[in-house]
Formats: sequence, structure tokens, C-alpha cells
Amino acid sequence: MTNLTRTNRQKKTEQKFDYQEALRDVARSMVRLKRPDRLLKLITRFIDRQFGLHHTSLLVHEPSKNRYVFVNSKGARRVPAGLLKFDSDHPLIRWFALPRRKTPFQEDYLLLTDIKKTLNKAHFRLAADSRASELVKVQKTMEVLRVELVIPGYFKNDLVGILMLGGKFSGRFFTSSEILFFQTLAHDCSMAIKTAEYNQSLLEQNRELENRLQEIEKLRHKEQRTYYEIIRSLAEEVEAKEPTVFGHVSQVEKLGMMTARELGIDLSGQHKDILSAALMLHDVGKIGVPDHILMKPGGLTPEEWEVMKSHVEKGAKILEPLSDFRKVKEIILSHHERFDGTGYPRGLKGEDILIEARIVSVVDSFHAIVSNRCYREGRSIDFALQELEHCAGTQFDPQVVEAFIRVIRREIAKGRIDVAALQH
Ligand SMILES: [Fe+2]
Repeated sequence: MTNLTRTNRQKKTEQKFDYQEALRDVARSMVRLKRPDRLLKLITRFIDRQFGLHHTSLLVHEPSKNRYVFVNSKGARRVPAGLLKFDSDHPLIRWFALPRRKTPFQEDYLLLTDIKKTLNKAHFRLAADSRASELVKVQKTMEVLRVELVIPGYFKNDLVGILMLGGKFSGRFFTSSEILFFQTLAHDCSMAIKTAEYNQSLLEQNRELENRLQEIEKLRHKEQRTYYEIIRSLAEEVEAKEPTVFGHVSQVEKLGMMTARELGIDLSGQHKDILSAALMLHDVGKIGVPDHILMKPGGLTPEEWEVMKSHVEKGAKILEPLSDFRKVKEIILSHHERFDGTGYPRGLKGEDILIEARIVSVVDSFHAIVSNRCYREGRSIDFALQELEHCAGTQFDPQVVEAFIRVIRREIAKGRIDVAALQH
């Protein structure tokens, strides 16, 4: 009989222990919940159902206003959530928030019965200790709210919230293991609240940073666009210097884009803008070449030719500030390189020359042959195409020449190219 009783008692204790341990695990895992308000609701509801109390309330710190608000309350004697607020100098808050001095209460909780007992002790009641008068105020608060047990929750040294519990329906006292369990919950709740606050502030900081980066990017883009437009107008100015080649830039751009498509070059996203800009701006450096050289009817002297050749470097320099169009600068710098490596300025060879620059080279040369210049009449399209074929492999990339000829023939056949305009 004795053995049987012991076994039953043991089982009961084990069950109770396992039950509490499981609860603590659940509470700890809830710390990871992103929304602590859900966790607080769960815990209030759980205590209310499980322990048969007159009420279960949670008071939580509101950092923006430095006050404590009832966020959840359950039970017959519950406090309406959100209605009651305690400032940071409220006696109950001060009791737990201030650095702990030596008091008759060693634990981080207050039981109304303990307070009453302590206050009844003459030496404590009569001591001119402000702590005693504070405790009287705490007692009054607890009595008004019909709270039997108060458990604070801390994060580091900050008072994050307070769990306030009414008495049991059974009239029994809280056991020490129950109090320990409530303390665990209060601690977990505090952790959850602080973690969520921290995550929230990180999110807000990230959002703010992203917004600022976007603004900077917008400004940068706007500046780049403005600069690009300036260069465009410079290119038009170059073109205007030689009125007989009016339309050269737009013709070269159109034919160049078609050739690139014919070659199957990726023209998605920024690739298209880069090639288009390079085709339009390839001779922008001529703005730095004196007019008497640029428009000289006869042949150039070796010195003049050197100045003329410098337009590729001058063009690249003009493009320097356009970080969005870094590749355009490289294409412009290479548009007078030759496939056999005898071009300028660097003598690059074959596929070391960017494909875009090889395209500009073919289209630009074609257009130069067919256009009227101040020093000669424009030649026929057939003549120009023969010239390109003739120079394929030496001056030009043969594949680009082939693709270009296919494009020209097809476009002329379909009537999509105005031959007269091309040759004016
Ligand atoms: Fe050029």
C-alpha cells in the first residue's frame, strides 16, 4: 500500500514536471515568433485556462512614451486592455524598475499575502524607510486591481513588462513551482518583446537605407542622363560642322543596330543603349579637332593626320564621367582599330577589338564612302560594298562585313532604306 502510494505520487510529480518542462520549451520556442503580441495573447490565454485564476493580465513597456500599458487581460476580473496605463514613476513600476535595494523580498516577484505579512511586522512598518511607504502603495495598487501575484520580466536590466495574476478560484495559494514557471514565462516574454523590437528597428533602418540608396541612384542616373544629352548635342555639333554629311550619325546608328541584330548580338537591357550610344557618339572627339583640319578639302599632312587621329582619345575622354556607359568609352576608343592590328590608337587585333567597335568601324566606313564629302563626291552603294569586301580580313572583321552586306541588300530590297538619302 505504501509502495503503491509512493508510486502514484511519483508518477504525479513526474507528470507535473514533464508538463512544466514542455511548457517552458514551448515558451522558449515562442521567443522566435516574429510577432510578440501573438505570443503574449497565447500566454495570457494559456494561464487563464490552465490555472483557474480570477484574472491574468500583462503590462508591457511602451518605449516611445516610456510608460507601461495593459496589453492583454483575461478572466472575470480582467482589466480592459489599453485603457489602464502606468507611468514610469508609478509605485509598482518603480518597485521593480529601480535598482534593487535590500528588502525583505529576495525574489523577483510580489505576493499580496507576503506584502501584508511584511507590513504587519512592526519593525518594517515603523522604519522611516521610503521603501516601506512604496510597498504600501504597491499593495494598494494590487488590491484595487485584485491582483495576488506580480511577476516582473526583464531584459538585461530593463523592466520590459509585468505579469499580474488574480487569485485562484480554488482559493489555494500559488506554489513555488508555479511561481517559478510564471517567472520563466515572464522572462521569455521579455526576450520575445525585445527581440521583436530589435528586429523591427533593424528593418526600419534597412528600409531607410534602401530609400536613401534609391534616391542617390536616381540623382546619379539623372546626372548621367543630363551629361549624356550634353554629349549628344556635342555629337550633333560635330556633324553640323560638315553639312554635307548631315544625317550621318542617325544613319550609322540605324545600320549598326541592324548589323548587330543580324550577328545575333545580345541587345537586351543596357546592351542596346550602349551600342546605340557608341554608334551615335563615335566621332564626338572631333569636337576637339580644329576646323581647318576637319574640313580640309585636300589630303592631310602627317601632323594634321595625327591631330585627326586623336579624335578617338578625345572622344573617350569626353565619355569618362559617364560611369553607366563605361563600355561606350571603350568602343569609341577602338572604332579605328583594324582587324589585322594595323589600326590606331593601340593596334589591337581581331577579337581583341570589341565586337561593337568592329561594327562601328564597318558601318562608319561604308557611310563615309557613300556620302558626299567636301573633298569628293559620294560613291555608289555597290562600290562601297565591294570596298568592304575587299578590306574584309585586313581592315574589317569579315563576319561583320558579311552581316552588314546582308542587312543592306535585304533592307534595300524591301524598300526600307532610302538610297538617295544615304548618298546625299
Ligand atoms: Fe572616327
